[in-house]
Formats: sequence, structure tokens, C-alpha cells
Amino acid sequence: MLLDHHFYLAPLQGFTDFVYRRCHHQLIGSIDEFYIPYLAIGPGKKIRNSQLRDCLPENNIDMPVVPQILCANADELKLLASELQQMGYSKVNLNLGCPYPMATKRGRGTALLEDTPALKAVLDNLFSDFNFQVSVKFRSGMTDEQTILNQFELLQNYPFEKLIFHPRTAKQLYKGQANRKLFAQLVALSDKPLVYNGDISSKADIDEILQLVPSQRTWMIGRGILSDPLLIKQLKGETISEQEALQLKMQFHQQVLDAYRAWLQDDGHVLMKMKQFWSYFANSFPNPAKTYKPIKKASKLDRFLEVYPSIFQKSV
Ligand SMILES: Cc1cc2nc3c(=O)[nH]c(=O)nc-3n(C[C@H](O)[C@H](O)[C@H](O)COP(=O)(O)O)c2cc1C
Repeated sequence: MLLDHHFYLAPLQGFTDFVYRRCHHQLIGSIDEFYIPYLAIGPGKKIRNSQLRDCLPENNIDMPVVPQILCANADELKLLASELQQMGYSKVNLNLGCPYPMATKRGRGTALLEDTPALKAVLDNLFSDFNFQVSVKFRSGMTDEQTILNQFELLQNYPFEKLIFHPRTAKQLYKGQANRKLFAQLVALSDKPLVYNGDISSKADIDEILQLVPSQRTWMIGRGILSDPLLIKQLKGETISEQEALQLKMQFHQQVLDAYRAWLQDDGHVLMKMKQFWSYFANSFPNPAKTYKPIKKASKLDRFLEVYPSIFQKSV
């Protein structure tokens, strides 16, 4: 039982949007903080509407959310932080971990972690010109894990509220093993506790890290929760029968579907959202690839509405 542990939902652009977060919070609960996928400067120097919408306070009422900034320099930082300040946020998270070339080629995400002068300018601005509680989410480096061992001293000079470490390089994207030993190495160098992020999908995964870092109490989880929305309840040792779990998952799925249908006018858009949802949620069922196949094949929302109920029925 991990009753004194804290769990945070990782931000996954396109997956953990405000609909998903709200439904999870209302029906399932047990997540201490929800990190909103990043806000960045898009084409025409404007923030994309979809990203703004995800952060709007009216879409996050009574939710413990933390918005995230993805920027390349102090100018971008100022624009994004001002936007979040106007929305009334008191906490922000800085993204120093996005691995995708679309971001790193522009000096954002993991690339900013490696660019010491730009990183200093961003952090100096963020801590001196704004009044946020700031957390940071970072990777090991672009290609070399030595990067984080070199840059960590710089990060430690700033009063971060939380330091969240995903121990992979950008080159690895989300593949291969997260380097848990590197996480333990950084914990030993750190004067504050670090939040662990990467590939947690069971108590056994947590135990493996606890063997390396017995004091570890804070975890950020993404794909593990998308695959099993009840994961944190299980990790916290809540007793829940298989039947109750299935019922809760069915209800959760229904709420997500209803919320997307109420929000999005276009059936095609709803279908796309539900396919994304099922691309991980199918892992809740005995044969994920077979479970996901008819969903993936559905070319119309009507077809999706016909095929998904039998997945739940077969599991009863
Ligand atoms: C499709 C996708 C989108 C993501 N979007 C973001 C994002 O907006 N901000 C961020 O900090 N990390 C993002 N991530 C990384 C996740 O937050 C997390 O660090 C990663 O999935 C590893 O954790 P997990 O193994 O628990 O999923 C994304 C990952 C994926 C696969």
C-alpha cells in the first residue's frame, strides 16, 4: 500500500485533455495533480486555440491542474507566462523534456536544457518577473545522459517547487528502458526530492525504484493511467473487485464519450478522440491488440458506437 505517496498525471498532448482530466477527477479521483499538456508559441506567433482552451479556467474548475510552458527563450517565456498569469494560475511547469524534433529544432524542450545561456535567461525571468510556484520536467539530455549530470547544478540554483525527472534521452523518445539507476544517481546529487516519471504501470515497477531510492514518494504517471484509469486506486491499495473495476471503467468511458460528443460538433473529430482514448485503454482488456482492432477500423462514429459495447460485454 502506498498511502503516503503522491501521484501526478503526466501531460500527454492530445490524450490528457480537459475532457479526460475532468472525467477522471469526477469519477475516479485519487490523482493529486493533473499536469496540462504544453502551451507553446505556434504559427503567426500565436498560441493554438486548442492549447489555450485546455488551460482555460472554466475548463478546469475545482481541479488541481498545473499548466505547462514549452519555450525556447525568455521572449517566448514572457508571452506564455503572462497568458497563464492573466488566467489566474499560481503554479506553472517548465518543459525541458520534449524530445520531438519539431520542438528541439526550435530550441525548445530538451534542447533548452542543453542551451545554458538561454536556460538561465528563461529561469531568471520566470523567477524574477512572475510570482508562480514553478516546477520543472526534464530528461537526461538530447543524446548523452552526462548532460543532466552537468546541468543539474544550474537547476539546483533555482527554488523549484518540484523537479520531475524522466530518465531517457531525447534520442530515445519514449522507447527502450527508462534509466532508473540514473534517476537514483540524480536523487543522490539533489538537495530536494525528485518526482520520478517513466514506465510505471504496476506496483512492481514502483517497488523496483523503491529498492534503488527507498525514500521515493512522488510519481508522475502517463501511459500507465491511460492504459488503466484505475491504476492509482490499485497502487494505493484500495480494494476493488474485478466486477466493480469493469463497471467503473465502463462509466468512465461513457462519460468521456458523452463529453466529447457534447463538446465537438464534428463526428469525425469525436471518432478521432475516441480512437486515441482506446489506443491506450485497450490495454485494460486481455488481448489489447485484438480489442483495439475493430475500434481502429471504424471509419464512422456510428460504427464505433456499434462495436465498443461488445468489448465490455465480453469482459463481464
Ligand atoms: C503522445 C505524447 C504526448 C506527450 N505530451 C507531453 C507534453 O505536452 N508535455 C510533457 O511534458 N510531456 C509530454 N509527454 C511525455 C509524458 O508526459 C511522459 O513524460 C512520458 O509519457 C513518460 O511517462 P509514462 O511512461 O508514465 O507515460 C508526451 C508523451 C507522449 C507519448
